[in-house]
Amino acid sequence: MKEQKQSFDQVLERRGSNSLKWDNLADPQMIPMWVADMDFQVMPEIQEALHKRAEHGIFGYAGPDDSYRQAVCGWMQRRHQLEISPESILCSNGVVSALKTAIQAFSSPGDAVAVITPVYYPFYRAIESNGRKIHPLSLTLKEEGYVLEDSELEKLDGATLLLFCNPHNPVGKVWTEQEQQKIGAACLRYGVKVVSDEIHADFIRPGIRMVPFWNAVPGSRAWSILCTAPSKTFNLAALWTSNILIDDPAMREAFAKVMDRNGTGNPNIFGIDACRAACSCGDQWVDDLNEYIDSNFRFMKNYLSAELPQLKMIEPQGTYLAWVDCRNLGMNARELEAFMKQEAHLLLDEGEIFGKAGAGFERFNIACPRPVLEQALDQLRDAVHRLEG
Ligand SMILES: Cc1ncc(COP(=O)(O)O)c(C=O)c1O
Repeated sequence: MKEQKQSFDQVLERRGSNSLKWDNLADPQMIPMWVADMDFQVMPEIQEALHKRAEHGIFGYAGPDDSYRQAVCGWMQRRHQLEISPESILCSNGVVSALKTAIQAFSSPGDAVAVITPVYYPFYRAIESNGRKIHPLSLTLKEEGYVLEDSELEKLDGATLLLFCNPHNPVGKVWTEQEQQKIGAACLRYGVKVVSDEIHADFIRPGIRMVPFWNAVPGSRAWSILCTAPSKTFNLAALWTSNILIDDPAMREAFAKVMDRNGTGNPNIFGIDACRAACSCGDQWVDDLNEYIDSNFRFMKNYLSAELPQLKMIEPQGTYLAWVDCRNLGMNARELEAFMKQEAHLLLDEGEIFGKAGAGFERFNIACPRPVLEQALDQLRDAVHRLEG
C-alpha cells in the first residue's frame, strides 16, 4: 500500500530545538526565513534508519560502505542521469567545508578564485579566509532573468579556480547545458579548474532541466569536481554529510590529502544512515516536496502581484529561495534590513551580503508550511502599507 503523502502544511514547533533558525529570536513575532534549512520533518524512512542506529547504541568511528556508495550512485543516475563510479565519492563534513578543501587543494595562496556574483556569501569567505583573491564575474539582470554575458567569461583569464553554483544561490537560476558549455570552454581555454556546487540540484521547478556540470561539459571530469549532498534535499544539514564527486584520481588524491590534513573527512554515522535511506527511497518524497515548493513560489508570486506590486520576485528555476527585488521601496540596504526586521518582523538574508549587485534585494527561504509563508507575507504587506500611510 502506498504511504500517505506527507503534509508539508503542518506547522511544527522548532523553538527550543537548538535550531539556528528558530532559537534565540528576541522578537516573538519574528519569522526567520534566512538560513537554508526547511521547516519540514524528514521522510519516515530516514527517521526509521536513525531510530535503528540510536537503538543499536554504539557510535564508534564510521565510514561509508558499499551499500552507501551504491545508494548515492543510484540517486545520481535516476535523478540526474549522471553515471558515477562508487570510488569517485568522497564524504566531507559539509559542502562549504569541501569548497575550502578544494581551494586549498587546487590553488595556492594569492591565486585568484572566480565566482559569479551575486552568489552564496560563504563562497567569498572560503576564498578570503584561505588567502586567495576573489575574482568576480557579474550576472546581469535582464527581462528574462539573470544572464552571464559572454564578455564576462574573458575575466576567467588569470583565475586558477571557479566556484560555480548550479542551481545558483541566491538568484535561483538553473544553468542551461549551453551556458555551462560556454563557461566550460572558457575554463579549459584559461586552465581554470571548476568546483561545481550542485547542492540545490534536486530542487527544480516544472519545465526546467538540471544538467550536472559533468554531463553538460564533456571531458570536464578531468578538471572539475561536483559537490552534492542530501542536506538540502532531505533537510539533514546538521548531520554534516556531503558527497564530493571526484573522478580524476590525481585530483581525488590531492583533495583527500587536504581533507585528512584538516580533519574534515570523518563521516557522521547518523549522516551515513540518513543519506543511504534518502538516496534509496526518497524519489517520491522529493517529487512531492518539489510540488509543494513550486506551489509556495506560485502563491508568493500571486500574493506579491495582488498585494505588493512594488516588490518583484525574480522567477526562480530552482532552489527554495525567493530572490525579491525591493528597490521600489526606495530604501538603502541598511534601511531595508531595519524595515524587514523591525516593521515586518522578518529575518531574511540581505541581498547585499551576496555581492554589491544584491543591494535592494532580499532572499526569502520559502521551504516552510504555507500558513507560515502566508503570515510572513501578511506581515510584510501590513508593514509596507503603514510605510505608505
Ligand atoms: C550553494 C550552497 N552551498 C553550500 C551550502 C551549505 O552546505 P553545507 O551545509 O553542507 O556546508 C549551501 C547552504 O545554504 C548553499 O546554498
